[in-house]
Amino acid sequence: MLRNLLPRLRATAAAAAVPRVASASPHFFYGSAASNPPPHRTSVEHLGDDDEGDDSGGAPRPSPASTISIDRSGLCNPPEHSHVASSDSELVKHLKGIIKFRGGPISVAEYMEEVLTNPKAGFYMNRDVFGGGGDFVTSPEVSQMFGEMIGIWTMCVWEQMGQPKRVNLVELGPGRGTLMADLLRGSSKFKHFTQSLNIHMVECSPTLRKIQHQTLKCIDEESVQKGKVSSLSGSPVSWHSTLDEVPSGVPTIIIAHEFYDALPVHQFQRTPRGWCEKMVDIQEDSSFRFVLSPHPTPATLYLMKRFKWAAGEEVSELNHVEICPEAIDLTQAIAKRVGSDGGGALIIDYGLNKLVSDSLQAIRKHKFVNILDDPGSADLSAYVDFTAIRHSAEEVSGDVSVHGPITQSQLLGALGINFRVEALLENCSEEQAESLRTGYWRLVGDGEAPFWEGPDEQVPMGMGTRYLAMAIVKKSQGVPVPFT
Ligand SMILES: C[S@@+](CC[C@H](N)C(=O)[O-])C[C@H]1O[C@@H](n2cnc3c(N)ncnc32)[C@H](O)[C@@H]1O
Repeated sequence: MLRNLLPRLRATAAAAAVPRVASASPHFFYGSAASNPPPHRTSVEHLGDDDEGDDSGGAPRPSPASTISIDRSGLCNPPEHSHVASSDSELVKHLKGIIKFRGGPISVAEYMEEVLTNPKAGFYMNRDVFGGGGDFVTSPEVSQMFGEMIGIWTMCVWEQMGQPKRVNLVELGPGRGTLMADLLRGSSKFKHFTQSLNIHMVECSPTLRKIQHQTLKCIDEESVQKGKVSSLSGSPVSWHSTLDEVPSGVPTIIIAHEFYDALPVHQFQRTPRGWCEKMVDIQEDSSFRFVLSPHPTPATLYLMKRFKWAAGEEVSELNHVEICPEAIDLTQAIAKRVGSDGGGALIIDYGLNKLVSDSLQAIRKHKFVNILDDPGSADLSAYVDFTAIRHSAEEVSGDVSVHGPITQSQLLGALGINFRVEALLENCSEEQAESLRTGYWRLVGDGEAPFWEGPDEQVPMGMGTRYLAMAIVKKSQGVPVPFT
């Protein structure tokens, strides 16, 4: 019904949406051309019990530049040491220091990890990268309805577990904390549920931890434990650097939205001498460039493992492959925990249900940029390989079942987003209604919004089919909603 209604309505206050995509690369060349637009956010206000503004927005992103990959098999001599003052950033100096100290290039995964999470200068570590004033937008920032729908999924899993009195609710990479805040607000009337929650935020960035603390309206607990409590729900909240730090032995529900895409990927290229890992090196003019490893690297073991999970002709059709060992290890930790403690995990991200070829991309201020350009100033992310997630989970635990992937549109639709948006539309200003309509389209639509009458470059782009959702649950709990 809403879709029939939407084309007749004019949405005015939205910024353009830009999904993230990369193309396959030809032999000995590396590049990532944006064939599809990546996700972006619009301005949306929270509607409901607690009225909070959101100033996020987005902008169109052009295709990333291509760079040449050269095989320097003989590479082993570090460039000359120089005392000439350089204008390199701290992170660039650090990366060059690693390469020089090693006497050779580093993997793309190591480069990506340093760029994103280096404690001093990593992209996520010292600033708020989200929204119109930041670098990109995500679904929780598009609309409160996203977090509310994830809250419904979480409550359904809790119901299927028999309403346990204590539950760990873990969010991996919570960004600004918006998803969790909307989840808690949306479920606040279900007291038995909210009273059971211990919230665990797995976040590497000290800056984002502070923002999450504010978003969840945390206050100091009055009990002897002296922890933090979210005044949105009265639930205790704690922060961790990794999932391993979250206490086990309690049923656990894990949400990972746009977390897996930030995990470092290794890239391999097919050559006449077999699959060679792509590495990052320093060239003569002191800038970074890609080279190919002359020898097998440790990550080759993961490549072989991933190929065993590939279907038929899949491998022979590719000249370039990305793998994410950290995603495999994380999924196995999730599966073991869910298998032994009960509960489930919901993973939502952009990705494929097959081998990923060449998707790594860099985004700065809502535009695609070169991956090697000014590292630390742009987000790096890669497609999530949902087939690898499925096999990783099934490999380590016979007590879990894996469901999906389904599209974000299917997930949110089945969880009731159409009813929610209609209810919100009944009691809001015209400005809020416009934000709701564009936000709804961005979450569940496919491509350009048909109802858009504003400037072409700001047309809202739907992410409903581009984002996929997969669930891992304890098998004995049954099939999770809506993966039937
Ligand atoms: C793309 S953002 C997604 C944020 C949020 N889930 C959202 O959808 O708005 C990635 C988040 O994961 C965090 N992160 C990235 N790598 C991490 C790591 N290795 N350990 C913990 N947190 C990490 C970032 O700081 C950030 O909060």
